[in-house]
Amino acid sequence: MIIRKATISDIPQILSIYNYEVLNSSSTFDTRPKSTEDFLKLFDMHSYKYPIYVVEDGTNSIIGYGYLSPFSDKEGYSITVEDSIYIHHLHRGKGIGKMLLKFLIQKAREKGFKNIIAKICAENQPSLNLHKSLGFVEVGKLYSVGYKFNRYLDVIILQLNL
Ligand SMILES: CC(C)(COP(=O)(O)OP(=O)(O)OC[C@H]1O[C@@H](n2cnc3c(N)ncnc32)[C@H](O)[C@@H]1OP(=O)(O)O)[C@@H](O)C(=O)NCCC(=O)NCCS
Repeated sequence: MIIRKATISDIPQILSIYNYEVLNSSSTFDTRPKSTEDFLKLFDMHSYKYPIYVVEDGTNSIIGYGYLSPFSDKEGYSITVEDSIYIHHLHRGKGIGKMLLKFLIQKAREKGFKNIIAKICAENQPSLNLHKSLGFVEVGKLYSVGYKFNRYLDVIILQLNL
């Protein structure tokens, strides 16, 4: 298993992992599947300072991906990033998410960021546990800010001070 920078040719596999979540879970509040063009834009926004990383298994299949993003486009927030992480639904519970989040935390430290924020749907217990297991602390909760699958959803905010 290796973690490497994503390339544009990885988009179909990344898209398939993400769109599964869009259609089947509240881990993302997107409600309609994304297109290749959408992900080309995401790649454009994640160049040098914020690359997208993929986890590849021994057969060159992508089984997860993740990246850091600016917390805000206002300059004063430039010390703070947000993380995003998605593991293929057939490859969960094997430590891959933890490996990738540890890697992103390390990259954030190397780049001199001071905080990582995670905004996680309150019903996404696996992601809450994953982040807390690596030191993220719950700092707030937003009530009924999301709406998907005919229900209102809360969001928990976690912070890792680096
Ligand atoms: C959240 C997610 C990234 C976890 O990845 P994973 O590879 O399955 O997680 P790991 O096997 O590395 O487990 C790491 C920790 O997460 C927690 N965890 C993982 N699966 C869990 C589950 N089903 N229930 C509760 N906690 C769970 C545990 O704390 C675990 O630590 P431990 O093994 O020391 O107990 C994965 O479930 C996923 O991609 N979900 C859909 C997308 C998503 O929710 N992304 C995050 C958006 S905020």
